[in-house]
Amino acid sequence: MKTINVHTSSPYNIIIQRGSLDKSGELISSALKSKKAVIITDDIVNNLYAKRLVKSLADYDINADVFAFPHGEQSKNLDTLSDIYDFLCEKNITRSDFLIALGGGVVGDITGFAAATYLRGIDFVQIPTTLLAQVDSSVGGKTAVDIKGGKNLVGAFKQPALVICDSDILQSLPRCELACGMAEVIKYGMIRDRNLFELLEKHNLSTVDEAMDEIVYTCIDIKRDVVEHDEFDKGERMILNFGHTLGHAIEGWHNYTDYSHGMGVSAGMCMITRKLCSAELSERLEKCVASYELPTGTEAPVSELLPYCSKDKKCESGNINYIICPEVGKAEIRRVSVSEFKKLMEGQN
Ligand code: GLY
Repeated sequence: MKTINVHTSSPYNIIIQRGSLDKSGELISSALKSKKAVIITDDIVNNLYAKRLVKSLADYDINADVFAFPHGEQSKNLDTLSDIYDFLCEKNITRSDFLIALGGGVVGDITGFAAATYLRGIDFVQIPTTLLAQVDSSVGGKTAVDIKGGKNLVGAFKQPALVICDSDILQSLPRCELACGMAEVIKYGMIRDRNLFELLEKHNLSTVDEAMDEIVYTCIDIKRDVVEHDEFDKGERMILNFGHTLGHAIEGWHNYTDYSHGMGVSAGMCMITRKLCSAELSERLEKCVASYELPTGTEAPVSELLPYCSKDKKCESGNINYIICPEVGKAEIRRVSVSEFKKLMEGQN
């Protein structure tokens, strides 16, 4: 078992251990006193893992009800959130009880936001079941729901009380889900860790499970370090958005349906690198993402992506913050006006 301590305004531990889902009762009772919880999950994860979690909690006298909603980004909205609040009231959840997010990024984001706001804040535990959620969204306390105007536009910073990562769970992930998480893993290599990137270059989507424990640990530790330096996303944390300015725009152009977040990030990283960095680096990155079955670009015309970029949270007072990696393992934050960004990206697909 590996434990990473995160020293944020509200400190917590991240446990990384194969088989830890079935030890959740023991791990949670060491971190929290309450014996009453609600597990929030989606229909797919509910069928796969909720019973095992409820059993493990019951072994430690923690009583947990389950609230499951239809899977997918389209559920991450104010209607689902309202249904969650009603369920918590119905089950008489008080400030001393807690929520458990069992699922991927959508479940983690909406559960975290419910925990940040219900009764002005209650504890929550993250049990991420996708690679993307393990290495990124479950760590660092960003919680949100989507509204008509865009993705993640209503949210709060709320650190979890505990994160439990069971990499055995990743073995049952659909191939496209695994690829989606690998886009964020490649991002960590590009922004911070040359050794990680070189490890990724030695593998591909079919062989990467062999190195998964090391990969998950390394990525979470990079995220810990970045979040500890800039918990509230005012500066350095923006480097985690490498590939995301264009990535979110590509997802938006596809109506957040047939194009996953990881595919958007992958295409976004390649597009910005092609435009602003050396041909050698660009080829290296493209080769790496292609070996994880991820795209290097998009059919969406840049002119149609730019309106999405200017609505992005990374856009402030008519300026866009975007990230480039001039070399593997090193990230820089650049700030330009929306019109300069447009000029920079024009002619690029
Ligand atoms: N996913 C980017 C961040 O947590 O800042």
